[in-house]
Amino acid sequence: MRHDHLITSKQLSRTDIETVLDRAAEIDADRAAVADRHAGTLLGLLFYEPSTRTKMSFETAMKRLGGDIVDMGAVESSSVTKGETLADTVRVIEGYADALVLRHPKQGAATMASEFVDVPLLNAGDGAGHHPTQTLLDLYTIRENAGLDDLTIGIMGDLKYGRTVHSLSYALSNFDTRQHFISPESLQLPREVVYDLHQAQDGTQIREHDSLEEILPSLDVLYVTRIQRERFPDENEYQQVAGEYQIDPETLEDAADDLTVMHPLPRVDEIDPAIDDTDYAAYFEQAHNGVPVRMALLDLLLSDARGEDDE
Ligand code: NCD
Repeated sequence: MRHDHLITSKQLSRTDIETVLDRAAEIDADRAAVADRHAGTLLGLLFYEPSTRTKMSFETAMKRLGGDIVDMGAVESSSVTKGETLADTVRVIEGYADALVLRHPKQGAATMASEFVDVPLLNAGDGAGHHPTQTLLDLYTIRENAGLDDLTIGIMGDLKYGRTVHSLSYALSNFDTRQHFISPESLQLPREVVYDLHQAQDGTQIREHDSLEEILPSLDVLYVTRIQRERFPDENEYQQVAGEYQIDPETLEDAADDLTVMHPLPRVDEIDPAIDDTDYAAYFEQAHNGVPVRMALLDLLLSDARGEDDE
């Protein structure tokens, strides 16, 4: 992989994706083999928005490769409160760390920040924009459970503000996939994403629906998302769609026996906990896959940054 920064999944070719997933599978099979591979390496974490999984799995990944992290910590306790710009903050922290991970509420923040630094910068979510490292662990989970070619996937919930959805749909267009998008009309995919998916060279098929019922039986994977309350300009608009598109065992009665249900988490009320113990549920496994996948990504990027050949 030869990328300085990872900002959107649009950067990733099918070969790039397979390189990361194959490396993740290798690492997953023998974590001890890489336990000291990046000893002395420091990963800088800059999270301007709440995070549990993304931040902790990056931290775990770096430590399991023998490295460590330096963490800006909560925005409230950093110089951001004194009015420091993002451009200045990343320029300072690149002097402390070998790579940076940035999450920010503003769409486009990662692109802007990456222009100020020479070390690799990984976008861990920019507003309603992109979340490419989540996509890689989503793809890993899909590959393990259903395979990535000849895939019929339903992506449901907040498709407008859900950055994991935008990144996932672009990445899936590298594969032979039928993508069904299920949402209320007000939360449909942004039109530019639909346009781009229609243009995708490999001809992924996309369709939009307002109900799950009609396509559920044909799905290999159902990817459920949270309504992104914090991104609604108006709380009333949120209240109008809150609680829609929930699934429970009854909803899934017509699903294929081998349906895989995924969710980037955190869930609020989209998936009834009664599904957790069924064979459909893959969302906790999905969250755990964040560690080997981020280990693989860091390994590939840091080895590149040091000028090592891909192994
Ligand atoms: C997602 C995010 O932050 O975009 N969480 C995550 O990284 N797993 C999804 C969400 O917040 O709903």
